[in-house]
Amino acid sequence: MNRSIIPTHVTKVGIRLALRQDYQAILDIDIDAFHHPWDEEQLGTIVKRRDSICMVAVDDDRNEIVLGYIAYRLTKRSIYTWRLAVEPTLWRQGLGTQMIDKLKGKLSPTRRNRLVVDVEEANTRAHMFLRDQKFRAKILNRDVYRFVYRVGDRKV
Ligand SMILES: CC(C)(COP(=O)(O)OP(=O)(O)OC[C@H]1O[C@@H](n2cnc3c(N)ncnc32)[C@H](O)[C@@H]1OP(=O)(O)O)[C@@H](O)C(=O)NCCC(=O)NCCS
Repeated sequence: MNRSIIPTHVTKVGIRLALRQDYQAILDIDIDAFHHPWDEEQLGTIVKRRDSICMVAVDDDRNEIVLGYIAYRLTKRSIYTWRLAVEPTLWRQGLGTQMIDKLKGKLSPTRRNRLVVDVEEANTRAHMFLRDQKFRAKILNRDVYRFVYRVGDRKV
């Protein structure tokens, strides 16, 4: 995607299902956001899974401009987030919060009640972000923390 069309400031975004024509923008964001970015094959594998969904955050006025994305898997009891990333020039403008809110809105106390994100230990930015979103963290293994947001948890 031509990066010059990305706005410098955003308040409200639209969130819609990712389309084939969004893939390059998603991969571009991934390169800047992660040490181990997905390639087209990895993204394609997730999108093709019957239990997984990829959504993009787009400019409210120009809905083809991808500003962030979230890929997740639905299980019986939880939503497992494969990836969540925002275009780096737009960090700290509330886009990550809007995407997490979208997933929180799909939870229900009696059915799918957990939103799960695994984050590398070194990714302190994501740790701070998820704590701000009221996730609780536990150590999953030596390098990874599991963050869980549970609807209906009185202590949340
Ligand atoms: C983690 C990420 C998705 C956050 O997206 P974002 O749009 O910048 O997040 P928001 O603007 O909604 O941040 C909400 C709050 O989280 C906290 N937060 C977010 N980034 C932070 C940072 N770098 N340092 C400290 N606190 C931070 C703050 O409390 C912030 O509120 P404030 O800006 O009013 O202080 C983004 O930094 C990103 O794409 N990182 C690379 C990808 C990644 O690591 N993903 C891991 C999965 S979470």
